[in-house]
Amino acid sequence: MSTDSSAAPSAQTAPSASASASASTSTSASTPPSQDGSLNGAVVLITGANGGLGREFVSQALARGAVKVYATARNPQDWDDARVVPLALDVTSEADIASVAAAAQDTTIVINNAGVSPKDDDALTTPLDAVRRQFEVNVYGPLAINRAFAPILGANGGGAFIQVHSALSWASMPAHGAYGATKAALWSLSNVLRIQLAEQGTRVLGLHFGYTDTPMTNGIDSPKNDPADIVRAALDGLDQGAFEVTADDTARRVKSALSSPPEVLYPFLVK
Ligand SMILES: NC(=O)c1ccc[n+]([C@@H]2O[C@H](COP(=O)([O-])OP(=O)(O)OC[C@H]3O[C@@H](n4cnc5c(N)ncnc54)[C@H](OP(=O)(O)O)[C@@H]3O)[C@@H](O)[C@H]2O)c1
Repeated sequence: MSTDSSAAPSAQTAPSASASASASTSTSASTPPSQDGSLNGAVVLITGANGGLGREFVSQALARGAVKVYATARNPQDWDDARVVPLALDVTSEADIASVAAAAQDTTIVINNAGVSPKDDDALTTPLDAVRRQFEVNVYGPLAINRAFAPILGANGGGAFIQVHSALSWASMPAHGAYGATKAALWSLSNVLRIQLAEQGTRVLGLHFGYTDTPMTNGIDSPKNDPADIVRAALDGLDQGAFEVTADDTARRVKSALSSPPEVLYPFLVK
């Protein structure tokens, strides 16, 4: 596929992943001083911490000075680091979320990272129950985390949510039919939460990027980002007061096409 910034993704192939993952941040409004995104001294909670990006978030948060990281996962692992507190959390379980919120009252930054991208994800044929399950993990779970932790972040001075979206919040691919819909829904929720939580000084940062080399993309034959670059871009953006990070060329390209008619991003629609 083309890596030309004016080219569009085809129906059969992914928007191209960028070899360079330099961050583009947008700060459409000035960031109030209370919305402190510094990792230095932060207490960070990460969902899906055992995954490809999750592990990077844990290690890079610590490297930037986080004093504690709640590494949550369905099956928490031992991290062999006293600063890492493993906690059991299935983001679809209200009981788990309540128990983690009670245990992690000192949290200042939450990274809503857990997600799924099933192999069978055809919008026309995948059973609706499977589509619903995907929405449970990628949309309702993160929203429930936002609801549980908004008062905690507020009580701790504001802090931030990092919401892990996707380039597919803004572009569609038949191979990822419902997945794109879940990421678009989470993006929309992040937008409204950003407005509502600004008053308490909590920043909501949306993170967008294309294919990245994690277990989620095993078997996908396409150029992929290094997860370390994506996480670095996200945490740089947090430091810089960004509300949004487009962490690779794919995300930047699809976002720039949003104000155009659909045939600009999908030229094959025009016969
Ligand atoms: N990789 C990409 O190309 C790409 C591109 C754009 C956006 N993203 C997004 O980046 C985020 C991280 O994905 P990744 O690439 O690091 O994939 P990954 O390696 O598959 O990690 C996903 C993590 O989410 C966890 N998870 C799944 N269902 C869960 C549930 N019900 N409750 C709690 N945790 C659950 C998984 O835990 P288990 O180990 O228990 O299954 C896994 O640790 C996701 O939101 C994904 O949609 C990825």
